[in-house]
Amino acid sequence: MTAANREEYLRIMETRHSVRQYTGRPIPAETREKLGAYLSRINEESGLHIQIVYDEPECFGAALAKYGRFGGCRDYISLVGKKDIPDLDERCGYYGELLVLEAQRLGLNTCWAALTHGKSKAETDRDEREVIIISLGYGTTSGNARKSKTPEEVSNITSDSPAWFREGVRAALLAPTAVNQQKFRFTRTGGKVRGEAGKIGPCLKIDLGIVKCHFEIGAGRENFEWEE
Ligand SMILES: Cc1cc2nc3c(=O)[nH]c(=O)nc-3n(C[C@H](O)[C@H](O)[C@H](O)COP(=O)(O)O)c2cc1C
Repeated sequence: MTAANREEYLRIMETRHSVRQYTGRPIPAETREKLGAYLSRINEESGLHIQIVYDEPECFGAALAKYGRFGGCRDYISLVGKKDIPDLDERCGYYGELLVLEAQRLGLNTCWAALTHGKSKAETDRDEREVIIISLGYGTTSGNARKSKTPEEVSNITSDSPAWFREGVRAALLAPTAVNQQKFRFTRTGGKVRGEAGKIGPCLKIDLGIVKCHFEIGAGRENFEWEE
């Protein structure tokens, strides 16, 4: 990722919020092509079977979705992968968030949805699992800013921490997490960083993938190594 790209993605993270109400305006062919090209690259790199389902209002028209305050949504991203991938949830979080950021770059809005949706029309083979879906489309608004934990609450940051770690943690705090729980922790030892999921809460492994995606973009992949 170039410096200009990184700056652009950081701006996207700052302006992106969950959106649950959509206008229903169809996504134009040109945008579908761009998203499709990005999706192919992501599926190739990740080994996942992520799909975008267009013009299908039933999934987010279901009672559960309405209860979850969704409306007007007719497109969504389905995160599907082989059941035997050991880190399937985390991987879906990581690559799903790359798609969320790309969608936002293309002027679309999104919301991760683990629970508040009906049946998805994505293809899931016998040896696969649909981990989660993400609503997609043009929002009636661009969403609202929300509360966030502080860098000190989610990392071992100090006044001596290098700028890249500071930026990584800042980007991670801009990431969406289930019920805005922000239950993750980044611990730096020299040039190594350990990212850990919280212990109690919903979708913690998906959250971990999402926040690691943001951390990498914020910190710059060339500045550190992940410690397993
Ligand atoms: C893994 C995950 C699962 C989520 N599941 C739901 C859901 O079922 N229903 C819903 O309305 N929002 C859901 N959300 C959206 C979160 O509530 C939202 O991302 C969080 O409050 C932070 O807000 P932001 O996305 O505007 O930063 C989910 C988010 C994540 C990351």
